[in-house]
Amino acid sequence: MKRTSRISDLRNIITEEKKRGRKIAFVPTMGFLHHGHLTLIDKAKETGAFLVVSIFVNPLQFGPNEDLTRYPRDIERDALLVEAAGVDILFHPTVEEMYPEKMVTFVEVGELDEMLCGANRPGHFRGVATVVNKLFNIVQPDMAFFGQKDYQQYLIIKRMVTDLNLPIQICPVPIVREDDGLAMSSRNVFLNPEQRQEALVLSKSLNEAERSIQMGQKSAREVEEQIKKSITLKSQGVIDYVEVRDASDLTEVTDIKRPVLIALAVKFGTTRLIDNKVVEVKRDV
Ligand code: PAF
Repeated sequence: MKRTSRISDLRNIITEEKKRGRKIAFVPTMGFLHHGHLTLIDKAKETGAFLVVSIFVNPLQFGPNEDLTRYPRDIERDALLVEAAGVDILFHPTVEEMYPEKMVTFVEVGELDEMLCGANRPGHFRGVATVVNKLFNIVQPDMAFFGQKDYQQYLIIKRMVTDLNLPIQICPVPIVREDDGLAMSSRNVFLNPEQRQEALVLSKSLNEAERSIQMGQKSAREVEEQIKKSITLKSQGVIDYVEVRDASDLTEVTDIKRPVLIALAVKFGTTRLIDNKVVEVKRDV
């Protein structure tokens, strides 16, 4: 596996691969890789394309009081994992390489970035869309892979690519969970054993909500209230949001008639976890 922190090196290598007719598949990450990332990489590998993985903890998407400095990092361990996964090149730029000057140009994906995680993390999705755009321009991939755990991020990137006519196929990959249901996340390492146990209420309450919708529950508000009640009763988690939204464009939903996204963010101590489920609705006969 090749490895570089230089944009110019990466560009030269990719130009050569493109000249040889190879397609480029890309998996952008912030590192501290877990099985969820490795699933994205496996999916990208299945395409047979030249496979680029980036590791960059992007300061632009962290708010002033968020966990940028504390975000877990272990580039040597990550490099071994991606090499074993059959990645062709690992790109791990420094902050100076990505942002040599103060940024004055940003990408904003309006509407989609204002609710859910965007409401309490102002500027977060602007930072994500901007860095992903930069990475797309650097890597020039044919396909890019995004996990559905960050469902809102996935929709924002898909919309950015459509609105800006970027010739890149955005490939979603389902959430990967631990055996007990906890959605995999680099932030899970911050949970103490008690919080780790309590956090199971997230996936359990999403499963219960799915069952109740499939049994005929149509009220989005009632589904939200039921989940909030479970979380409050069964854990000390502090709810940031629990929302039922249209799965295709995140617009508000009152009556559940089309596929919905049930999304939540809950803080356990100082660790904020997100999880979600897309629920298909049985048609009335
Ligand atoms: O999902 C992530 O890890 C990040 O938001 C991404 C897409 C790599 C951009 O920094």
